[in-house]
Amino acid sequence: MRVLFVTSEVFPLIKTGGLADVSGSLPTALQNLGVDIRILMPGYPAVLDKLSDLQEIASLDNLPVIHHATLMMGTIEDTQVKVMVIKSAQLYERDGGPYSDANGLEWLDNPLRFGTLSKVAAILSGPRSPLADWRPEIVHCNDWQTGLTPAYMKLLEQSQAKSMISLHNMAFQGCYAASWLPTLALPSTHFTQEGFEYHGQLSFLKAGIFYADAITTVSPSYAKEIQTAEFGFGLEGLLSRRGHEIKGILNGIETDEWNPETDQYLIANYSANKLAGKKLVKSALQERLGLKIDADAPLLGVVSRLTHQKGLDMLVPIMQSLINTGCQLALLGGGESELENAFRHLAINNLGSVSVTIGYNEPLSHQIMAGCDMFIMPSRFEPCGLNQLYGLAYGTPPIVNATGGLADSVIDTNIITFKNKTANGFVMSEASPASLLSCIRQALNIFNNDANAWRQIQKNGMLQNLSWDKSALEYLAEYEKLMQ
Ligand code: ADP
Ligand code: GLC
Repeated sequence: MRVLFVTSEVFPLIKTGGLADVSGSLPTALQNLGVDIRILMPGYPAVLDKLSDLQEIASLDNLPVIHHATLMMGTIEDTQVKVMVIKSAQLYERDGGPYSDANGLEWLDNPLRFGTLSKVAAILSGPRSPLADWRPEIVHCNDWQTGLTPAYMKLLEQSQAKSMISLHNMAFQGCYAASWLPTLALPSTHFTQEGFEYHGQLSFLKAGIFYADAITTVSPSYAKEIQTAEFGFGLEGLLSRRGHEIKGILNGIETDEWNPETDQYLIANYSANKLAGKKLVKSALQERLGLKIDADAPLLGVVSRLTHQKGLDMLVPIMQSLINTGCQLALLGGGESELENAFRHLAINNLGSVSVTIGYNEPLSHQIMAGCDMFIMPSRFEPCGLNQLYGLAYGTPPIVNATGGLADSVIDTNIITFKNKTANGFVMSEASPASLLSCIRQALNIFNNDANAWRQIQKNGMLQNLSWDKSALEYLAEYEKLMQ
């Protein structure tokens, strides 16, 4: 089976969030199952830099605005997954992030940058593909950046391949002025409610949902939630029309990258049955972050985008009372400046108890995951979430809100779940500071008073199989269904 996996970010080439983690690890798992998979992504400088054996394989012509680009192919060294990149200095070779410049301002030509990504994916799946020897049977799109692909495939490229779109986050839709239509060579006859029009704008994500042959989301709960007004971000009507077809498949984790037994970023490694190393990681983390070195002080961890989605504003008003009872906080993240500042203030007022690192830092994210005692993730919505899965794997029980993939992966500790050894974390009863506080207090009560029970909860999570094994099979089954 030949699958083209289209995405805007892939770990370890370029990453802003969980989409990169999934785009790095799911194709590897599918390749291990025998799928002939290739990734297609933009040729950002970091990507051109990091791929091995990068070679030109075709010339891409008749593209909007830039007319011409080069298709190159290389491999990700560790996994040997093939990655095709669109090389265009005009579109992708600039300083800054994949979506915005160094000041966080979105690139004004994003519709063209990701319209081109979508267009090239469609071309490669159709009769005018410049690749004579490799034509995908399935085109697997991810999020709004690839949303126009199914539309181009159906309306313009006469592609015989089947398309699937995976929804990783409905909050980002790629809506742009209608004036982009002619630039992107999209037929205006389809700029209607039954097409890619959304409140007078061109919506990349709606196009994907409307024209794709199959739709998946990254957790079963999120598949249901997005069919409601609270989580559908305006597309709930369209989604519920196709409701019974939407398949939720929980993300897995890359166990080569996220494994406390082998993690290269830790000063000591550990496992479910040999937890001693975790204590060493904790004291090294406390030292590195300027926290008081104290094995008994409950250390709360956060690694997150600081946005409304993640709900960390709920931690701000309750953190001082937790600190007053001896808790510490290690936070790594970045996003909304108001929230960044609130946490900075907390750190300034609580030297030795609170450490706040604003920015992106891969090694520190592993060290926080391993060195902390609990991981805090009170998201208001969470399509899947990877950090709570990393928390489970690292013996850092997650404290989460009951939504999306958090609800599907974290099992609240109570008498029954503790007895049957499924308890692996703590789940809030609602998204509020009070509920977060009572949930953290419940965890602290066990952490402070019952070391054996705590160890059991840690173990329950650490011994779970969180790898892609099962979920990759589910994707394969969806591909097979599409091809029938
Ligand atoms: P989302 O994609 O919505 O941000 P996920 O939990 O799915 O949430 O994935 C987030 C990923 O990004 C995780 O791999 C996490 O470790 C990583 N991450 C988030 N913020 C940072 C940061 N400041 N530094 C390093 N890694 C980060
Ligand atoms: C998005 C979601 C996150 C999910 C990730 C990968 O970034 O916000 O919940 O884990 O995509 O699917």
